[in-house]
Amino acid sequence: MKTVNIGLLGGGNIGCGVWTLLQDMRQDIQKRCHVDLRITKILVRDINEPRPCALPPELLTTNPHDVTRADNIQIVAEFLGGIQPAAMYMQDAMAHKKAVVTANKAALATEGASLRAAASANHVGLHYEASVCAAIPVIGAFKHSLQANRVTRIMGIINGTTNYILSEMAQHNKDYQQVLAEAQRLGLAEPDPSSDVQGRDAAYKLSILASLAFGGQVAVQHIYTEGITGVTPEDILCGKDRGYALKLLAIAKMGEHGVEARVHPALIPNNHPLAGVNGAFNAVHLTGHACGDMTFMGKGAGPMPTAGAVISDIINAAEALAHLYIEEESQEQALSMAEDWQSAYFIRILAEDEAGVAAVFAREGVSLASVEQSGEGTGGRVPLICTTRPASERAVRAALENLPPSACSVQSVIRVES
Ligand code: HSE
Repeated sequence: MKTVNIGLLGGGNIGCGVWTLLQDMRQDIQKRCHVDLRITKILVRDINEPRPCALPPELLTTNPHDVTRADNIQIVAEFLGGIQPAAMYMQDAMAHKKAVVTANKAALATEGASLRAAASANHVGLHYEASVCAAIPVIGAFKHSLQANRVTRIMGIINGTTNYILSEMAQHNKDYQQVLAEAQRLGLAEPDPSSDVQGRDAAYKLSILASLAFGGQVAVQHIYTEGITGVTPEDILCGKDRGYALKLLAIAKMGEHGVEARVHPALIPNNHPLAGVNGAFNAVHLTGHACGDMTFMGKGAGPMPTAGAVISDIINAAEALAHLYIEEESQEQALSMAEDWQSAYFIRILAEDEAGVAAVFAREGVSLASVEQSGEGTGGRVPLICTTRPASERAVRAALENLPPSACSVQSVIRVES
């Protein structure tokens, strides 16, 4: 049986998950895949710092070159997080002919082109199943299983922290700050939650997914990104009363005007497959011209779900080494991005009776599907809930800007997807 030596960049939660799961599954993997996987070096920040599992001290190093340049290591698995120095270490490993496995969405979404170029130039594999939705095999689906499809749409709940917060807000009618604080206390949200709650984490993942699905580069800076910090219990309740669930959606569509890619809170009808995805779960719903609609759901984070995806990539990399083939990374051209998109909107406004709200929307070509007065007014203003028919984002923004501030204040604007 072939032995393959692996170096880990990172000995924290994910590194320990990989170590533990590999000890557990090593013999099964030997039987199933005819390869003996051995971790021979682990880069850590500090040899003596406490860790979630006991790692053999003789494997630990603080010198990245002991992993990225070791002659006896064939595969380097990276889970340091953050863009640098992780991307630099991966480059170095590939320059030294190691296949690289990574769980690092930020590095892939921002340095993906140079990492792919290094993989191609050095004829080594670059594997990243764990970078998006951890246990859900969605990267493999795009890379291998959906090759005979033109994928036209991806809609996903791809951030567990925000899905947990929105689910708790919906279930217990609590406000955002209160649920965030509870989630932080329970260790379900990071001490600095900004990347999650501002939608950046989901945008990184969407950039990776959309680039694979559409066969070209969808740069993260071209993804419209809006987080959940402005979502109120009233928004959730108004949606609930009308048969909708509020989710942070990552959406990418291939249309005639190019790719539209966006991350923002959205209302989806209760019968949509994503509407019942609650708590920290992730899900990806996609549409292909041959396969139609399909939905993947599962655990999108956590040491064990992530370790499972990392080890599966390590096995794929080991098989490629054994059979002397490399999954070539394509050098992707940037795809042309659509500058506008169509959506229906749900808009809460406080307006004076004579504000002429409908006329302002009509002037921009936005057709209102309904206008409801909701609850009692105060100070001469009444709360209005307007829903639009599918309209251009640009036109809706223009209408909102043209609402007279002396007579109206916009409370919230939420896109409606189906
Ligand atoms: N912070 C991420 C989430 C972890 O909440 O989904 C997995 O990328």
